[in-house]
Amino acid sequence: MLRFLTAGESHGKGLIGIVEGMPSGLKVSKEFIHRELKRRQQGYGRGGRMKIESDEVEFISGIRWGKTLGSPITLLIKNRDWQNWEKALNDDPQFEGSFPPVTKPRPGHADLAGLIKYDHSDIRNVLERSSARETAMRVAIGALAKQLLEEFNINIGSFVTKIGTASLSIDTHNLKEKDLIELLNKADKSPVRCPFEPLENKMMEVIDRAIKTGDSVGGSFIVFATNVPIGLGSYVHWDRKLDSRIAAAMMSIQAIKAVEIGDGVKLADEFGSRVMDEIFYNGKFYRTTNHMGGIEGGMSNGMPIIVKATMKPIPTLRKPLKSVDIITKEPVEAAYERSDICAVPAASIIGEAVIAWCLAQAFLEKFGGDSLGDIKASYDFYNTKRC
Ligand SMILES: Cc1cc2nc3c(=O)[nH]c(=O)nc-3n(C[C@H](O)[C@H](O)[C@H](O)COP(=O)(O)O)c2cc1C
Repeated sequence: MLRFLTAGESHGKGLIGIVEGMPSGLKVSKEFIHRELKRRQQGYGRGGRMKIESDEVEFISGIRWGKTLGSPITLLIKNRDWQNWEKALNDDPQFEGSFPPVTKPRPGHADLAGLIKYDHSDIRNVLERSSARETAMRVAIGALAKQLLEEFNINIGSFVTKIGTASLSIDTHNLKEKDLIELLNKADKSPVRCPFEPLENKMMEVIDRAIKTGDSVGGSFIVFATNVPIGLGSYVHWDRKLDSRIAAAMMSIQAIKAVEIGDGVKLADEFGSRVMDEIFYNGKFYRTTNHMGGIEGGMSNGMPIIVKATMKPIPTLRKPLKSVDIITKEPVEAAYERSDICAVPAASIIGEAVIAWCLAQAFLEKFGGDSLGDIKASYDFYNTKRC
């Protein structure tokens, strides 16, 4: 069973991840992980922190001479900003009270519910962990999953389709694997990760407008996976369905408010005859369309997996939002701490990581073995005998 845990506060010493269940013998490139971390930190509209932090991962266990051992892998990402927060977040009680508490909960954040739930009197105790800083570790762990999937030529990518009102309704059901890879390559060169040129400029204008007015924006992005074998996930039980697992994982990314698979909500407008992906055979089963986004009955069907996620606008605003002080109960303006204006491009990279993780998990359930060699043998057998 492939599983992970993460720990760490946004301004604490660092983030830790423990991954268990990776097979032995997988080559791991730290450079690849660093590239993924960098992709997460980029994007037009990010806040000041991205300029301070340049994330790097250290392995504490589970990797020897560039390959996995099969034992738990521990990853560490140090927070470079730690020295400025050493007193504020120290475990030593001598520092208690040396940093002013946060008492003005921000609407749209975990601040108020988290404070009440965990019986805190300083919102910092909540916001440090609820922050999307945690996703740096999820991207590092997703990069391990991507490296496993790449052994089987499964590629994962993403691109942004909407920022605020700047959007494009793109028909993904006709996109072939090479089209998706082309869109990914273009997106990786764009400051907003948008592969469509006129739209890219409009997206940046929307962000500029939000910067000027002390506001923020959200948007949508598509994550895809190519060359996914038929039969990952299962129809036999609700929590084994690949679409439900992907939707839950996507929803777990901070600020994601909607997830669609394939044509998603647009399917409700159509007649069934127009949107079911008909089945053909020429020595192998194939489809000519992909309205279902590569998943039928909770299982991958061999077509590219297409997932769209929608992110709400960033909730911390320079333009004050109404709130209530948790101590005085008086009306106040919500707390403001250095913040992104738009993080949709970054969220698309996190989306890639969580889908990589879901697919790696489902892949190991199907072809599982303790070593990469065992898994390859099982995968080859399945491909030659069944598909
Ligand atoms: C990559 C990324 C960066 C984010 N940056 C910020 C930020 O700078 N300021 C902020 O208020 N929210 C930011 N958010 C959103 C909040 O983390 C999120 O809205 C909050 O934790 C509440 O969770 P919920 O929106 O899922 O309910 C970011 C989210 C992501 C995915």
